[in-house]
Amino acid sequence: TFRLTFQPAPTQQQQPEQEKVLDEAPPAASGAPKESGSSPAAEEKPLSYRSLVLTGYGGYDKIKLQVKTHNKLQLKAGEVLVRVKACGLNFAELLGRQGLYERLPPPPVTMGMEGSGVIEAVGDNVEDRKVGDRVIVLIRCGMWQEVVVVSADQTFLMPEQMSFEEGAAIPVNYISAYMMLFDMANVRPGKSILIHMAAGGVGIAATQLCQTVQDVTVFGTASASKHETIAQGGVTHPIDYRTKDYVEEVRKISPNGVDIVLDPLSGSDTQKGFNLLKPMGTLIVFGAANVVTGQRRNLLAMAKTWYNQFTLNTLKLMQTNKAVGGFHLGHLTDQQLITKTMEKLMELYKQGKIKPCIDSCYHFEEVADAMRRMHERKNIGKVILLPEPKKKEEEPKSNAEPGEKVEKTESAANKKKEEATEEVKAEKD
Ligand SMILES: NC(=O)c1ccc[n+]([C@@H]2O[C@H](COP(=O)([O-])OP(=O)(O)OC[C@H]3O[C@@H](n4cnc5c(N)ncnc54)[C@H](OP(=O)(O)O)[C@@H]3O)[C@@H](O)[C@H]2O)c1
Repeated sequence: TFRLTFQPAPTQQQQPEQEKVLDEAPPAASGAPKESGSSPAAEEKPLSYRSLVLTGYGGYDKIKLQVKTHNKLQLKAGEVLVRVKACGLNFAELLGRQGLYERLPPPPVTMGMEGSGVIEAVGDNVEDRKVGDRVIVLIRCGMWQEVVVVSADQTFLMPEQMSFEEGAAIPVNYISAYMMLFDMANVRPGKSILIHMAAGGVGIAATQLCQTVQDVTVFGTASASKHETIAQGGVTHPIDYRTKDYVEEVRKISPNGVDIVLDPLSGSDTQKGFNLLKPMGTLIVFGAANVVTGQRRNLLAMAKTWYNQFTLNTLKLMQTNKAVGGFHLGHLTDQQLITKTMEKLMELYKQGKIKPCIDSCYHFEEVADAMRRMHERKNIGKVILLPEPKKKEEEPKSNAEPGEKVEKTESAANKKKEEATEEVKAEKD
């Protein structure tokens, strides 16, 4: 039997929206309710934990910080309970908030596909995990809360030197980049590649992984202010796609185009990517960032992206000697494949060949600021969410310029006041 150490009830400062009393365990990967079974890890004391809940589709205000309480907690065989220390924010959650991510169950739902933490309890038949293990977790949704119950095989042991923030930044970005580069596009010495959103989570992961192969030329698109950083990180030719035509820029340097294009944008950019491929080249489509233009859903951008969608004639493929592939981690259900890839990534981390770039860390109560940072295209690397309540007077931990930081802190504080007022008003109505 295990004693679970529960966090004290939330303080005033956290301003949880409301208390929910649930009978089932904290949601796991599927987001589906847990059946109560014969579990070795049971605790009579109710378990309270903070959870970020998407309450409907729309803007930042749709994500509420709630406190959930479970009267009893029972782990099924093969499950572990993890106290979460850090979670990753992904572009998929910007889409999810707008109702555009099909792998997310409908609201109310807790988003979050990845995180890191410490195992606090294990169920029956869990052989290779124990209480106290520091683990990375990869699930379909439900990670943005203080505790999660997940299947033990969705956890990965963290190397000693890895921080919780780094652990939370690895799975989605690095597994995606690794599989696209090595399993699908087969990147090899001397090849060239175009990486869009090269200063983002996946972009930096892909750039680092390209450095593990000799003599790979990386063309990377990003906002101009990020070019110095991505050049230091291994992008051979940074391109400012916001002021220049990236196709022209690539062709100026490499008239024949590139061997690989990673396309997270969709719409007209997929056709451009295909055209940029050299014979025997490979295009991998893995996102539709073009549908997102701001906080709220933009029907025009969605229609434009859909209208310009790349359509494929297989005869044309043959005649051009090109390959097109698609990648979606959310649809990859082969757990063994994911585990093997994580093992390779952990090895690369230990060898110092990959290292997540953490852009900024925000506490759960600052989730709107975290999402705003991505929407406004300011992040360089990964944005992290911390379940730990924000301490009074604490500055956001960010790579932002000092001036920007102060401004952001003030505006965040003001916005929070507005949001809090709005919530009270809404409740009164
Ligand atoms: N299929 C999969 O399994 C999979 C897995 C992970 C990620 N993805 C996709 O990969 C892409 C990158 O994801 P990520 O989580 O690593 O995010 P990210 O790259 O960190 O996203 C934010 C950055 O993207 C750039 N950007 C380009 N278009 C944007 C837009 N419409 N709105 C906001 N920012 C935009 C901005 O930087 P710059 O202006 O500097 O470029 C921004 O700072 C997304 O399309 C995501 O859906 C797919």
